[in-house]
Amino acid sequence: KARTFFVGGNFKMNGSLESVKSIVDRLNESKLAASTEVVIAPPAPYLYWAAQNNKKSQVFIAAQNSYDKASGAYTGEISVNCLKDVGATWVILGHSERRTILKETDEMVASKTKFALDNGVKVILCIGETLEERKAGITLEVCARQLDAVSSKVSDWSDVVVAYEPVWAIGTGLAATPEDAEETHVGIRKHLASTIGAEQAEKVRILYGGSVNGKNANTFKDKANIDGFLVGGASLKPEFVDIINSRE
Ligand code: G3H
Repeated sequence: KARTFFVGGNFKMNGSLESVKSIVDRLNESKLAASTEVVIAPPAPYLYWAAQNNKKSQVFIAAQNSYDKASGAYTGEISVNCLKDVGATWVILGHSERRTILKETDEMVASKTKFALDNGVKVILCIGETLEERKAGITLEVCARQLDAVSSKVSDWSDVVVAYEPVWAIGTGLAATPEDAEETHVGIRKHLASTIGAEQAEKVRILYGGSVNGKNANTFKDKANIDGFLVGGASLKPEFVDIINSRE
């Protein structure tokens, strides 16, 4: 298949130097499916350490957020130049926790995405509907709106991976069924084809995120439009390796 299987681990605001070390050590020591691209996103204070200690050429380091200005008086924000400096090559943007708790708008997410890409940092762009929106039957409209904010600013999507994360499935233990996820992924890809063009849309990897674990990961195996996962809780556990190897 043309799209390389991608597994991201979003540690969120969890861990310690010791626990991040044990996760990086575990990846270093494990047999990882050679065809999987792995990206881990520890909390910002541990990025440099993780990048320095990662020994696997298929594993890359991501931040969980970055800002849309290079530097300056923006107390507490994260510069993409600093990310590159410490060896992080990816950033997660638009995660639902940042959209809801930190009040990030579609416009802010789009602006940050453009800035990261323009400055050579790849983006895991998170989108997805709330339970209320799903019940209202507007899942694809919500995803389209979140994507359109970005495609109005970004024309080259070769360094973007889209993570479809239905909010109701995040951290709940209730993953979307492979069938439901595939249906939405197909809709997302169709929408992208209509905005960024069929050729690019065919190449964009669309990850599923929301209660993925070592047991359910391989149930998504035969779904043609599920190109990997963005994993939260299970990325902190030994089963993260099983998820990485779930396409073998
Ligand atoms: O970024 C990851 C998602 O929010 C999924 O989190 O695997 O803990 O449900 P979860």
